[in-house]
Amino acid sequence: MEPKKLISGLFLLSALFSAAQNRIVVNTDLGKEKISKHIYGHFSEHLGRCIYGGYWVGEDSKIPNTNGIRNDVVDALVDIGIPNLRWPGGCFADEYHWMDGIGPRDQRPTMINTHWGGVTEDNSFGTHEFLELCRQLDAEPVINGNMGSGTVQEMSQWVEYLNSDNISPMTDLRKVNGRDQAWGVTYWNLGNENWGCGGNMTAEYYANEMRRYSTFTKNYGDNRLYKIACGPNGDDYHWMETVMKNGNPGRSFQGISLHYYTVAHNWSKKGSATDFDESDYFLTMSKTLYMDELLRKHINIMDRYDPQNRVGLLVDEWGNWHDVEPGTNPGFLYQQNTLRDAMVAAVNLDLFNKYARRVKMANIAQTVNVLQAMILTKDDQIVKTPSYYVFKMYKAHHEGTMLPTDVVTENYEYNNDRIPAISSSASRSADGKIYLTISNLNPNKPITVTCELRGKQKAAFARGEIVTAEKINAFNDFGKQEEVTLKNFNDVKVSGNQLTVSLPSKSIVMLELN
Ligand code: AHR
Repeated sequence: MEPKKLISGLFLLSALFSAAQNRIVVNTDLGKEKISKHIYGHFSEHLGRCIYGGYWVGEDSKIPNTNGIRNDVVDALVDIGIPNLRWPGGCFADEYHWMDGIGPRDQRPTMINTHWGGVTEDNSFGTHEFLELCRQLDAEPVINGNMGSGTVQEMSQWVEYLNSDNISPMTDLRKVNGRDQAWGVTYWNLGNENWGCGGNMTAEYYANEMRRYSTFTKNYGDNRLYKIACGPNGDDYHWMETVMKNGNPGRSFQGISLHYYTVAHNWSKKGSATDFDESDYFLTMSKTLYMDELLRKHINIMDRYDPQNRVGLLVDEWGNWHDVEPGTNPGFLYQQNTLRDAMVAAVNLDLFNKYARRVKMANIAQTVNVLQAMILTKDDQIVKTPSYYVFKMYKAHHEGTMLPTDVVTENYEYNNDRIPAISSSASRSADGKIYLTISNLNPNKPITVTCELRGKQKAAFARGEIVTAEKINAFNDFGKQEEVTLKNFNDVKVSGNQLTVSLPSKSIVMLELN
């Protein structure tokens, strides 16, 4: 062959190869598992300015509020379809005594929040205020009981106070405090991080204690508690194994938690939320992708002890944990939120969708003003973070049927290391629409992806949305125009049942297909 023809042949081959290289096959006929909307859940602790200032401003505040809860924050969270809210902690939960947070506010005792800045907690936000917040949000409450410093009686009475309509001292007390009807709370955590701040217990000791606490947290009326055992810290497979083996799964508990935070460097120097370079970005993405291995291995253990899949895995704390913003209280965990955080949110949500068979809830930490927040507040202003817009976009997957995907992706390489450049997940809604989310993790290079809707003759593209920005460390700030927001996306070509999607670098895209 003439050299000229050979070279053009090679170009053609390489063009064909690169077109075929990034490919997502959506198996439209293989969907079995429902993606619980609770995967898109949230977590709010008595920590820094999450509860106080974040939600609670009190009835007399100049900030527009309903029953003391700020309207702007509620409106924003309703808009992303917040399905549940976990409270009051976190580490705080295991030093919280619920009876201090009921009754007339000016008579409630104070306490020291020893975990978070040593500040005085005045208990003005307690059980009634939290359930009022959930009512305004139309979100399921997830309450974390105190197994660390509380008693079985205290936990048992809290459940009775919340859920019983019988004539009883706890029911009477609730009525005296202004609430006639039981709330019917379903989700109940039996302790938090009891391997650490929740009592430094061994897995063996915790499993026994948890069974005891569970015995005395009763069902009232038609309400059935969904009890969540404290699960492992990251890759502590021994903890998972022991609680699944000794903890009476399916009876003493219906769900088990997993906590894993993405920390770019190490716990003593985590790295700045906004001032980072590509090596920090690459590290963050690699560490967040570790969630895949954690889920797979923990689920393998659960499958051995619970082959009937009765027990859910609840990733009830996850997200990016950076250094606090300079000049802020180190105990308040206040951090900004950039496009990098949005990428982390998308990758994790895709993984939770992928493991929807077991993952029944997940709660990003921590909604307002703390860690990877959806919303930041400053006096009467709020900022919606890039992570917020990912949750808004992924609302499309709530309660959909998970459609398994086969992904062939090029790598994103940095410094002789590599991670997959594409993350994605797909679902079908009750009305038959297909939603496909795809992220390009590479901050330097646009990527073209061919998507095949296997099992369908034709694809029709209805609409698309995108989250991206010029810079990977772009963020939204008070009093400025948003740098990262949700925009329309149309860079899609359809041919038969195939779509060719052009993803800009560092972008997250959602496609609605018919
Ligand atoms: O979210 C902050 C803290 O992280 C929580 O209180 C604790 O459960 C975890 O260690």
